[in-house]
Amino acid sequence: MAKRYYLTTPIYYVNSTPHAGHALTMLICDVTKRHRRMRGEEVVFLTGTDENGQKIKEAAEKAGEDPMAFVDRISQTFADCARSLNIDYDIFMRTTSEPHRRASQALFNLLREKGHIYEGTYEGWYDVSSETFVRESDLVDGKSPDGNPVQWVSEQNWFFRLSAFEQPLLDYIAKHPDFLLPEGRRNEVISFIRQGLRDMCITRENQGWGIEVPGDPSKVIYVWFEALINYLAATGWPEPGWEELWPADVHWMAKEIFVRFHATLWPAMLMAAALPLPKTVIAHGWFVFGDAKMSKSLGNVVSPEELVARFTKAGCTPDLAVDAARWALIRAVPYESDTNFTHAEIARTYNADLANDLGNALNRSLAMAHKFVSGVMPAAEIEPEAAAAIEQAKIDVIDAFDHHRLDHATEAAIGLVRFLNKYIDQRAPWTLHKQGDPALGAVIASMLLVLRAVEGLVRPFTPAAADAMAAQLGVVPLTSLEPIGTPSSLPAGTRLGQPAPMFPRLDLTKADETMETPAEPAPKKEKPKRGLPEPADEITIEEFLRLNLRVGRVIEAQRVEGSEKLMKLQVRVGEEQRQIVAGIAQQYAPEDLIGRQVCVVFNLKPAKLMGLESQGMIMAADDPSGGAILLEPDKEAPEGSRIH
Ligand code: MSP
Repeated sequence: MAKRYYLTTPIYYVNSTPHAGHALTMLICDVTKRHRRMRGEEVVFLTGTDENGQKIKEAAEKAGEDPMAFVDRISQTFADCARSLNIDYDIFMRTTSEPHRRASQALFNLLREKGHIYEGTYEGWYDVSSETFVRESDLVDGKSPDGNPVQWVSEQNWFFRLSAFEQPLLDYIAKHPDFLLPEGRRNEVISFIRQGLRDMCITRENQGWGIEVPGDPSKVIYVWFEALINYLAATGWPEPGWEELWPADVHWMAKEIFVRFHATLWPAMLMAAALPLPKTVIAHGWFVFGDAKMSKSLGNVVSPEELVARFTKAGCTPDLAVDAARWALIRAVPYESDTNFTHAEIARTYNADLANDLGNALNRSLAMAHKFVSGVMPAAEIEPEAAAAIEQAKIDVIDAFDHHRLDHATEAAIGLVRFLNKYIDQRAPWTLHKQGDPALGAVIASMLLVLRAVEGLVRPFTPAAADAMAAQLGVVPLTSLEPIGTPSSLPAGTRLGQPAPMFPRLDLTKADETMETPAEPAPKKEKPKRGLPEPADEITIEEFLRLNLRVGRVIEAQRVEGSEKLMKLQVRVGEEQRQIVAGIAQQYAPEDLIGRQVCVVFNLKPAKLMGLESQGMIMAADDPSGGAILLEPDKEAPEGSRIH
């Protein structure tokens, strides 16, 4: 059987319930699947839940529930979330299922046989709450870089020879430009690998939850190591037939699990097993709310059900409310950076695209067709500019999907709608009708054929609206992109249906009631303040002068993968360039920092934060909420100048 197009979301942790952020990645895959199917491809879309973490067992115990009953219940909420947005996955993989256990143990065995997994002693610090080992040099005030308590452990464990894949990974990335996307994040991966990969401890003590290490029941496989294997398990591997799906065409996820796990560990595991690598691994940004990632612990989540309910309340039918939510989410996809999720913005996009542009184009076209040509598709060739606009939009949509840019695909589709509205204004069918101009037939035919094309192009995003459009045009829904733009897609003589409004306009003044912004994020739990030593009462000028403080300029700024607080800066201080890791990511965006002058503690001993060397410190005042307010010279100062 021919290889099928295979695309995946991450499998979601079951220690919290789904929100719009989780739904976004599922929706991206759903829309891609629907589009690819219209290109005649067979597509398989995988999603699921990640259930074996020690934290999950603890969460169940805390809830007073049997762990299995607990994971069954929460896993179901992710399946329900998909249903609430008409997300049509094909496989829902659970890591507590038998096929996943079998594949995980088989891959473990295979890598051990090939010598890529070996037994050794792990001795060092362990962060229990994130289930990760922490280097001594990465400890901050005796805690993990995330602020969690650590404990000293010394135990026999199994290690994966990740270090052996440093160069093969770099070579592979260099040879396959479409492997890691987008480019900015690919560069982060390259610099992460170049810093050196260490072998990874991939087992933990068996506490009665997780997948046992084959032949060593005292251990379970580290949850990240086995979670990644779900992508392979879903193909049926190692049983025959897995090649029908593998390699995956696209693994989609958000940025926090890209660099270390999906773009480094997973491809190294596959290389070790001599299995083909996924064609594309791609990470989008986050939905953020204010400065914080949408997350349950911050109390700023918006559930997809809630979003749909708001459109229903605004007057959409249930199916079309789902489409409105799908459209609004996809329009907001944070591709390179993050998107601030506000209901006001969602409402504006909805009004502009669906209520105004699409609604107007459909309603006036059908109304004029009924009035001027008796509600029947005219037997006339469409005008060249309409034909060209359809052709271009189709090319652009296909190209956007080929580059995984769903945001560009929505632009191209809605661009065709905007073309139609302009075309109607310019060709003024009402005047042609009044003047008995024979061009009227061709103009109306053009309008209707453009609408038929729009139906096909928006279908993956808004399937119910596309069905309603087809019904209003008096034809069966399009199942393929092929006929778009051809006369046979809407044959002459077709009796049109009646126009019926689909997306009622949201009154943006009233939208405050129906689309109000969710409550401000709950105040973050105060972490104990870093124990700054009390300053001595007096210091001498000589003591003060031991500090080398200088003016620098930020020339690059990047958030640190996996940390909500840390920002990695490249700072030019006179002739020198320093890498400085600063805890300012919750107050400042990278673009706010580039080009800015800062005050640098230049002779601070370098330290490591989250594995990144920080060669200095930038100075900031304490914000009462626990954040940082950067200090800046009052006017441009010569770069590198001393501060006294
Ligand atoms: N279980 C791991 C993944 C293992 S994959 C082999 C995990 N789970 S998670 O529940 O934390 O889900 C993370 C994913 O959910 C993100 O990578 C992204 O796809 C989605 N999102 C969760 N919150 C999000 C936002 N606020 N914004 C955008 N996407 C978000 O990590």
